[in-house]
Parts: sequence; C-alpha cells; structure tokens
Amino acid sequence: MNQELNNPRGPAKRLAVYNHKGGVGKTTLTVNLASAIAALGHNVLLVDSDPQCNLTSYLIEDSVVNDLLDQSDSDEGQTIWSALKPVVEATGLPRSIPPIAVSQNLSLIPGDVRLAEFEAELTSFWGDCFQRKLRGFRGTSALSSVVSAAVEQTGAT
Ligand SMILES: Nc1ncnc2c1ncn2[C@@H]1O[C@H](COP(=O)(O)OP(=O)(O)OP(=O)(O)O)[C@@H](O)[C@H]1O
Ligand SMILES: [Mg+2]
Repeated sequence: MNQELNNPRGPAKRLAVYNHKGGVGKTTLTVNLASAIAALGHNVLLVDSDPQCNLTSYLIEDSVVNDLLDQSDSDEGQTIWSALKPVVEATGLPRSIPPIAVSQNLSLIPGDVRLAEFEAELTSFWGDCFQRKLRGFRGTSALSSVVSAAVEQTGAT
C-alpha cells in the first residue's frame, strides 16, 4: 500500500518549533534548521505561524513585507492570514496562496499580524469539533490544509 497516496497531509515531513516562553530562540532555531536542511539538498517550506512575523521580516525585504501586509486582507492577499481568512469569516475553505521563494530549496508562507484573529477562533473551533460541527473540523485543520497546498506547489519534502 502506498502510504503517501493515502496521506492527505502529503509526503513532506513537518517540524513545528513551539514554546510558550518568549525570546527563547524559536525563530532563530527555525531559520537555522531550515537553512541547514536546505543545504543538505532538501526542498524546505517555512511557515510563519507567529503573528509577530519575525521569521518573515528576517527573510524578506521590509518593503515587500509591508506590501504583503497591506494587501493581506484583500481577495488577492498572499499571507497566511489571506489563506485562513475564509475559514475565520465562515465564507469558505482555506485559500491556496503561492509561497515566496527565499533561496535555493527554501520557500516561505509569510506570516501576518492578523493571524491573531485566527488564533482567537481556535478555542471555539475545538469546541465545535466535540459537537461534530463542520466549522470545528474545518477550523482546526485549516492551517494544515494551507501547508498541504503549499507543499504541492513547492514540492517540499
Ligand atoms: N543560541 C543562541 N545563543 C544566543 N542568543 C540567541 C540564541 N538563539 C537566539 N538568540 C537571541 O535571542 C533573541 C531571541 O531570539 P528569537 O527571536 O529567535 O526568540 P523567539 O523565541 O523566536 O522570540 P519571540 O518569543 O519573540 O518570538 C535574539 O536576539 C536572538 O539573536
Ligand atoms: Mg519568534
């Protein structure tokens, strides 16, 4: 049996860097891990899921980040918020957005300060799952769906 075909998350391995405490090196570790893995020849997709967007600011020129944030609430938006907005506003499924090529083997789904609005809904998404409401399942899996679509676009491994 082909596990990849049966896995809706796709074949790419996923690493999450998470710690509640601030200023402990999460972003620094993420940048360096990604860079090291890319240097080994793997195709890496970075996902900035922190509304502070430090990872995005670190990798992308300021003027480009400003433009991305200015546009992100529109239908043409290309940040992580643009992708998740339809789920938060209950207007549809997550949108697929094109990741930004950062360097060879390295691309990025840019972060967004508005991602805080998605985070604020997560508790109620989770509660809705227990009531078997579609909104809950759609909401809790939305970020993973956005990543899966980006993995397909970039061929990340
Ligand atoms: N291994 C390290 N040794 C020394 N300094 C480090 C190390 N890793 C990170 N730092 C420094 O610590 C500071 C915080 O790092 P970083 O921004 O990566 O943390 P963070 O956990 O992502 O913070 P935040 O909670 O604000 O997102 C930065 O100034 C960074 O340069
Ligand atoms: Mg950080």
